[in-house]
Amino acid sequence: MKVLVVGGGGREHAICWKLAQSPKVAELYCAPGNAGIAQVATCVPIKATDVDAMVKWAKENAMDFVMVAPDDPLALGMVDALEKAGIPAFGPRANAAIIEASKAFSKELMKKYNIPTAKYETFTDLDAALSYIREQGAPIVVKADGLALGKGVVVAATVAEAEQAVREMMEDKKFGDSGSTVVIEECMVGPEVTVLAFCDGEHLVPMLSSQDHKRAYDGNKGPNTGGMGAFCPSPNYTPEIAQFCTKHIFQPTVDALKAEGRPFKGVIYFGLMLTKDGPRVVEYNARFGDPETQPILSMLDTDLIDIFQACVNGTLDKVDIKWKAGAACCIVLASGGYPVSYQSGYPISGLDEAGKLATVFHAGTKRNDNGEIVNAGGRVLGVTAVGRTLGDAIEKAYTACKPISWTDMHMRTDIGKV
Ligand code: AMP
Ligand code: GLY
Repeated sequence: MKVLVVGGGGREHAICWKLAQSPKVAELYCAPGNAGIAQVATCVPIKATDVDAMVKWAKENAMDFVMVAPDDPLALGMVDALEKAGIPAFGPRANAAIIEASKAFSKELMKKYNIPTAKYETFTDLDAALSYIREQGAPIVVKADGLALGKGVVVAATVAEAEQAVREMMEDKKFGDSGSTVVIEECMVGPEVTVLAFCDGEHLVPMLSSQDHKRAYDGNKGPNTGGMGAFCPSPNYTPEIAQFCTKHIFQPTVDALKAEGRPFKGVIYFGLMLTKDGPRVVEYNARFGDPETQPILSMLDTDLIDIFQACVNGTLDKVDIKWKAGAACCIVLASGGYPVSYQSGYPISGLDEAGKLATVFHAGTKRNDNGEIVNAGGRVLGVTAVGRTLGDAIEKAYTACKPISWTDMHMRTDIGKV
C-alpha cells in the first residue's frame, strides 16, 4: 500500500514510525513531515492545512490510504475532500471533528445525551458573560469556543481574572473568531487522565490511558504548552473507572454522534477529570494527542494500518488490539523560551547516541543547508522509552535525553513524577 500521513510533529513521527513497521505499507509519505520523519517516510512539502493541494497530490501519486492527524485539516474537511476524490482516509469528517473545533457544540452534545461534564453556559454577549461570572463567583473556567492551539482555556482563581480572560477573548479578539463565543464552566477538581479511543462510527476501542504535562516548568508551574511530556498507562485509571467511562462516557459519545448524523471515524481524545463525584469530561479532541501518542504507540503490538483500515471500514469490532505489558514515557525537549518566544536554527547534537537508548521522535526539527539537524519549532524532540514499570520507563527516557543538547534546550525534570 501507498500511505500518506498528514502533519509534521512528534505525533506524526510516532504514527509514521509505527506504520513503517507494517509489512503492508510498501511506500510511506508524510506532508509536510520533519527531519526525523524523513528517516522513515518520504516528506512532501505541502502544508497540513492545504486541503486542495493535499488531495491533488494524493490523487496524482495514487495513494491507497491517507491518515489525517492534526485538528485543523480535520476541521477544514480534509477527510471529506479525500473521500470525495475516492481515497480512503482516516480521521473524522468535518461534521464530526466539530467535537473539538467547537466547545459550545461538544458541551451541548454532552448535556443532551447526559454525558458527565462540568456545568456551563455559552455566551456571545460580553455583558451577559461578565454578569454570569459575577453571579457564579470564582474559581471558574473560561474557554474560547474554537480552536486556539490548546491555549484558549483560563482556569481563573478570582472573578477579576475570569473577567479579564473574557474581555481578552471577546473584546480584544486574542484568539480571533475562536473567541467570539465563550463557554464559562464550573471548575472541577481531581487528577486528569487522557483516554484515546479508536472509533469506526459505531464501535470504539480505548487505547491505554495516559497523562500529559501541560505546564512549561517543573512542579506544574509556568505557562500552558502543547505538552512537555506524557506517559502511559495512568496509575489513576483503575479498571473500575475504565468500566464506568466506557459505559457512561465513551460509548454514549460515539452513539450520540451517530444519532446526530455525525458518525465519528478516527480517534477521539477524551480529556477526563476524576472528580470525587466520578469521572467527568474536560474536553474532547478529534485526533491523537501530542505527546500522548508517542508513548501510547510505543506500547502497541498490533499493526496500526489494520486498525486504521478497520476504523474506516466499520469493522473495528473484528480487530484484536494488543498492548505490551509495562509502561512508556516521553520527555519533550523544547526550545528555550517556549511557549512564549524562542530562537530556531541551532544544531542538535547527541541524536545518534540517544537513539541507541530510546526512540527519539522529532517534533520541530529540520536540516539546515549544511545537512545538520536543527531546532525548528517550540517542541523539538520527544524522547520515548518503554520499561517494565513506569519508574523504569521514566528513568530510561531521562537517561536517553542526557547526550542530547543544543543552545538553550529546555526540558522538565519531573515528567511522570507529579
Ligand atoms: P482544555 O483545552 O479544555 O483541555 O483545557 C485545558 C486544561 O484546563 C485542562 O487540561 C484542565 O487542566 C483545565 N480545565 C479545563 N476545564 C476545566 C474545568 N472545568 N475545571 C477545571 N479545570 C479545567
Ligand atoms: N497533549 C494535549 C493535546 O494533544 O491536546
